[in-house]
Amino acid sequence: MKRILITGALGQIGSELITFLRKRYGNENVIASDIKLIPEEMVDQNRPFEHIDCLDAQEIYSVIKKYKIDAIFHLAAVLSATGEKNPQLAWKVNINGLYNVLEIAREYKCAVFTPSSIAAFGPSTPKDNTPQETIQRPNTIYGLTKVTGELLCDYYYSKYGVDTRGVRFPGIISYTALPGGGTTDYAVEIFYEALRNKKYTCFLDKDTYLDMMYMPDGLKAAVNLMEADPSRLKHRNAYNVTAESFNPEQLAREIKKYILDFEMNYDVDPMRQAIADSWPNRLDDSAAREDWGWSPDYNLEAMTKDMIEKLKIKLNIADK
Ligand code: SER
Repeated sequence: MKRILITGALGQIGSELITFLRKRYGNENVIASDIKLIPEEMVDQNRPFEHIDCLDAQEIYSVIKKYKIDAIFHLAAVLSATGEKNPQLAWKVNINGLYNVLEIAREYKCAVFTPSSIAAFGPSTPKDNTPQETIQRPNTIYGLTKVTGELLCDYYYSKYGVDTRGVRFPGIISYTALPGGGTTDYAVEIFYEALRNKKYTCFLDKDTYLDMMYMPDGLKAAVNLMEADPSRLKHRNAYNVTAESFNPEQLAREIKKYILDFEMNYDVDPMRQAIADSWPNRLDDSAAREDWGWSPDYNLEAMTKDMIEKLKIKLNIADK
């Protein structure tokens, strides 16, 4: 990887991946792109930003040519809850966008990172220690697009030799940009509400276990996989990765260690609860550990401590 394009760079993962990659590969070698307009504070000649709607192949082509891109982190996607509200849009963005990226990668010999998700599993998948290779019959449109994406990326690797790689991300927790329209979003919202209002009403039930990961580990997973020795990769799209598995009650308990009078309430949203119930409780990520040395740095305790410290600064909340 010498010159990298990030699509969906203003999203939750993208907005932190830009900084992470620029530190590693140089500001001018990481081109951020998004369908949204670049915020004023990000305008900087040394930190390229381009408008790309991934449904417009020409827009991707022109950026790839202009900067001689050799690696693409394709993050532009519609998440699970938004997908259920607009399945047609989810299919179009997640599948046609990926198809455009893969076609261009084939022509210009770019490596491609595409995130899959815990959503690539469904109700008939084993819920605990979900294996790397197992039943994948998701029942959400988002999950369908993720399984299709995994297969499509494998196909471009075996048929055309495109260096495609991916992980199945769990819910990602971060303090820079908010996630949008996901089922795991509660685990981010809760921190903002706890710090601002000392209470949170959770849309998932208290005992809903899901895999989660703190952003620094998510960035490390994506970049370590892309930098891994290809001869060691037994799988390509996509590796199970996880850092922690917890339910809303456990997260609330952890937050209470810092905000003693924090109050957690529940008002279950049937749609998002059904999505969460169809996903695993905890993935087995041993293949990622064996093949490319995956190992997370943050568990629930370490993540909560850091989130609270960082968000206090961001939200300008002083210690009493
Ligand atoms: N965080 C995603 C979602 O909730 C899962 O990949 O939709």
